[in-house]
Amino acid sequence: MTIRKILKMGNPLLREPALPFESEEITSDETNELIQSMWDTMEEYGGIGLAAPQIGVSKQLAVIRIEEDNERYPEAEEFEEIIIFNPKITLLDETLQGFWEGCLSVPGLRGVVFRPRKVQIDYLDESAKEKSIIAEDFLATVFQHELDHLFGKLFIDRIEDISTLSFEDELVSADEEKEL
Ligand code: NI
Repeated sequence: MTIRKILKMGNPLLREPALPFESEEITSDETNELIQSMWDTMEEYGGIGLAAPQIGVSKQLAVIRIEEDNERYPEAEEFEEIIIFNPKITLLDETLQGFWEGCLSVPGLRGVVFRPRKVQIDYLDESAKEKSIIAEDFLATVFQHELDHLFGKLFIDRIEDISTLSFEDELVSADEEKEL
């Protein structure tokens, strides 16, 4: 187990665009260790997604894991975990949908963010193979949130109504508490 420190809002590295990986770099032992430490760190902090810049590595890598028994988002039931390198995002449905978002780099806070409801992500997997995934509804928000980290963006940048920005212990509904 390697638990890494998660950088918090205010750390300039979270605002830098991350660099893409070379194919041979993706399959290296060093990257393999990096991925493992991201899973370990994400689990330790109780998140469902983590991007490499959040642990101080300014590279285009994100991991997402949604448990299959997630009751609120049954449409995501076949989706368990994914490792994404060098993603490119295409909007498939620009209809906006709002979710309460949180972030391990913005601990204790939540806010409502509106994002397009359906996206396609083209990326390289951990074998450096080209892959593509289509994400809808909450999962589309999860992907967009994590990919934002690779471009120096945080969810608070996208809150339209800043009055929704809340401390999570003040939020009444427990099932709105999702760390992205
Ligand atoms: Ni985040």
